[in-house]
This record gives sequence, structure tokens and C-alpha cells, in this order.
Amino acid sequence: MKKIAVLTTGGDAPGMNAAIRAVVRTAIFSGAEIVGVEHGFKGLIENRFKQMGLSSVSGIINKGGTILQTLRCPEFHSREKREIAYRNLINNRIEGIIVIGGDGSRKGAFLITKETKIPSVFIPASIDNDVYGTDMTIGFDTAVNTGIDAIDKIRDTASSHERIFIVEVMGREHGFLALEIGLTGGAEIILIPEFKKDYTLEKICNIIIKGIKRGKDSSIIVAAEGFGNIKDWAGKIQKITGLETRYTVLGYIQRGGKPTAYSRKLGLVYGYEAVVSLIKSGKNKSLMVGMQNGKVMVIDMKKVINKEKRIDKKNYDINKIFAL
Ligand code: F6P
Repeated sequence: MKKIAVLTTGGDAPGMNAAIRAVVRTAIFSGAEIVGVEHGFKGLIENRFKQMGLSSVSGIINKGGTILQTLRCPEFHSREKREIAYRNLINNRIEGIIVIGGDGSRKGAFLITKETKIPSVFIPASIDNDVYGTDMTIGFDTAVNTGIDAIDKIRDTASSHERIFIVEVMGREHGFLALEIGLTGGAEIILIPEFKKDYTLEKICNIIIKGIKRGKDSSIIVAAEGFGNIKDWAGKIQKITGLETRYTVLGYIQRGGKPTAYSRKLGLVYGYEAVVSLIKSGKNKSLMVGMQNGKVMVIDMKKVINKEKRIDKKNYDINKIFAL
């Protein structure tokens, strides 16, 4: 394979830069030319290709965000716009493409191969960790650490003032991030969309009141953004329990920042594996790299596309014991 393109798309995730670094250096080591596409799929449509060299990825391993920049690109849903992107790929003599991004981005990578036969490899990177086929996405570990750092700080205020706090974390319509932050941050209650029926307002208030009676000086509730309106819930909880209840939305601080060692390592090993498998793959192959049971795997995209990742119910259940 003579020339490879790499792009980042969807929401940025800490560790994407480590993946770009690995892709660029592995491609050059393997004798291939490598170009970066700026602004994700939009950059493909707008022909924003730039040559990458060994030093173009120097000093980025520790940086959050993505040096190639990223966008959500609804235009890529249109066949007409994709045709423009494909012409640009062909005119730039691209023989293989690596797409770094979240669940939505994977469909884009798969489509490129389906419609052009240019092989693609998808590298999962998202703070949501909601990509089927991999136990871990690049950036998730960093976002979890950012989340628990925030919870630790909020707990100081919660216990000093004997308050209840609801902390909303990201995750779109999934609770992977909320579950991990809630579990490792020691939350009393974790509210996630996957098990919405598990908690009524009454049940939440009972748990809180029982905890206070047992001697707890505060309660932390971690809620996924997809669960519902936490401002509403906070007001109702305060009214029923008579306890001061505050809410905090962590927001975009979860997306940025220095990647943890684990997020960097995933970026590096996924990036390496993506290039090696792309070079070995034939025309018309769309692959994904991922982690399964502690091992880096290369998976045929046909086996994973359009499948929904399930939450680890056991971790959700055992947190109820730890929160006693
Ligand atoms: O997919 C990552 C994510 O941060 C979600 O957790 C969140 O819902 C969404 O992106 C926010 O998207 P945007 O950056 O388009 O506001």
C-alpha cells in the first residue's frame, strides 16, 4: 500500500493524538506515504489533505483534543457529498483510510469501503465507550478520571454541608461513563438510561433517607445525561427529603485534558495495529481494532456494524452493595 489517509471525526477524545502519532510513524516505518485529513469527513468532501511527516506528530502524545481537528458531519449522510469525498480520495491516490472516532464514525468508514472498495480501518475513540466490539475506547479512561476527580471535590462540599448532590455526566443515550464514574467515585446512586425503570423518585428518596439514618452525612447521585432532567429531579428530591439538594453538570471538561497513560497506550497500540492490518488487508475490506478481554483485536467490520454494546449489569448491581 503506497498511500494512507487518516482522519479524526465526531467528538474529540483524549488519546486521539497518541493514535495519530502511532498511525503516522507506523505508516512511514512501513514504507507508506501518510496524509492527514483535517476536519474529519467534512475535510474529505472539502479536499483538506495534508502530508504528514515523522516530526508532524512530535510533542502531541500528551495533548488532549486532536491536531487534525474534528467535526460532526451530517453532509456525509448524502450520497452526493460522499461521491465528492470519494473523488478526492481517488485524486489524492489514497489506497487505504484510517478513521478515528466514535460509533457514528464507524458507519462512515464502513460506507467508504462499501462504496469505493478502498479498504478502511476504524479506531474507536470516544469518551462514551459505547462502541460494540471493543471493551474500551480511546479517551474513556481519561474522562472517567476527570469525572471522579470532580466527584471527589464535590463530596467535600456535600459532606461539609450535609447535602445531596446530583452530578450529570456525558454519555449521550448510554450509561457507560456514568456507571464507571459512579462506581469508582463511590456514588450512592447511579442513574443510567439503560435501567431507567430501576429508580422512581420515591425509591431514590428512600435510599437517601435510609443512608442518612445510618449516619451518612451526604449522598452523591451520578446521572447520565440521557437519564433525564436532573434540575427537575434535584428540586423534587429536596422537596420530598427536606434535605438541601444541588446539581452539577460536568459538561465538556470531561472531553478535554491530558490523556491518562491508559488512554495514550490505547491510542498507540490501536494506531499501530490499524496500519499493520490495513496494509495486509485486501481491497474491499473494512476492519476495526479494539480490545477484547485484555487483547488488541482486529475485527471484520461486518461482524460489528449496527450492533449495540450492552452495559455491564453486574457492576451496576454491585454498586448498590458498596453504597450501603
Ligand atoms: O460522544 C461524545 C459526547 O461528548 C457525548 O457524551 C455528548 O453527548 C456529545 O458528545 C456532545 O456532543 P457535541 O460535542 O456535538 O456537543
